[in-house]
Amino acid sequence: MANDILKYLKEKKYISGEVLARILGISRVAVWKQIQKLKNMGYKITSDQNLGYCLVSRPDLLLPQEIQRGLSTEYIGKEIDYFPELKSTNTTAKEKALYKAERIDEGKLIIAERQSAGKGRLGREWFSPAGGIWLSIILYPQLFPSYISRITLTTAVALVQAIKACTQIESQIKWPNDVLINEKKVCGILTEMSTELDMINWVVIGIGINANINICDFPEDIQKNSTSLKETSGKEVSRVKLLQTFLKEFEKYYEKLKKKEFSSILKECKFFSHTLGKKIRVDIGEKIIKGEAIDINESGALILKKEDGESIEIISGTILK
Ligand code: BTN
Repeated sequence: MANDILKYLKEKKYISGEVLARILGISRVAVWKQIQKLKNMGYKITSDQNLGYCLVSRPDLLLPQEIQRGLSTEYIGKEIDYFPELKSTNTTAKEKALYKAERIDEGKLIIAERQSAGKGRLGREWFSPAGGIWLSIILYPQLFPSYISRITLTTAVALVQAIKACTQIESQIKWPNDVLINEKKVCGILTEMSTELDMINWVVIGIGINANINICDFPEDIQKNSTSLKETSGKEVSRVKLLQTFLKEFEKYYEKLKKKEFSSILKECKFFSHTLGKKIRVDIGEKIIKGEAIDINESGALILKKEDGESIEIISGTILK
């Protein structure tokens, strides 16, 4: 009901409680209660005795109704669970995916304004204060589990494109899951999945975007290697617009991926790669391998030419500084 009222408030400069009550078939007291609810969410609404209610400003929050207004995707983000604070959107998304392993939930988002226990790769913490974009997408792709790397890279390409479209800032993909601006991390992706032998049950893609965060607010140990869009552009970005753009881009690429058309995504991934052509050290768990990153293959694996000249395929690992 609050959403319906919002829709009319957005359409007209002023609308009276009486008219709203009539259109919506509820009492004027019920309208008033819904207006209070909207005000509590952060909408600034004034009321004039003669003219009625007027929407003055909307809150700078990633509220479902704000994201869905003007969102032109088919199914990504059509359902959104929003929270002012969560431990981790990935944890909540995984609970939902487990509980309701039905493909109707494909594209559902879990969004939080803040995370109290945001998770990064390899059990690291992910700093998630207000001002960032912290979300998880629930998917049920009919793909092999070996697609995990391709799913993460696809998400990274969509992020780079969305950042460029909304802020004109050029960013790069650090294999396998980071987006960098000027060598510093601006987004991280944590892809988690449940699989059976040769099929994926569900995938949760956790995406963290340092949007409107001040670098001085980052914990000291990550300040040196982190950045935010606000810091880079010198002004706040519209988180709603950026998220809408990302979701649209993501759906476009994800559709290609589902049709097993990774090649064209890979091309873009290589174009935006921060890793290719560099001499790097990769931690693959049991050891650290040195070499030159010469390619990313059709499976999303990194091809490293070792110092002895041998080229090896790295499916999963972390590039060290
Ligand atoms: C990394 O670079 O290590 C991955 C970071 C992923 C962070 C995002 S924020 C939203 C989602 N929820 C989490 O707890 N983590 C991911």
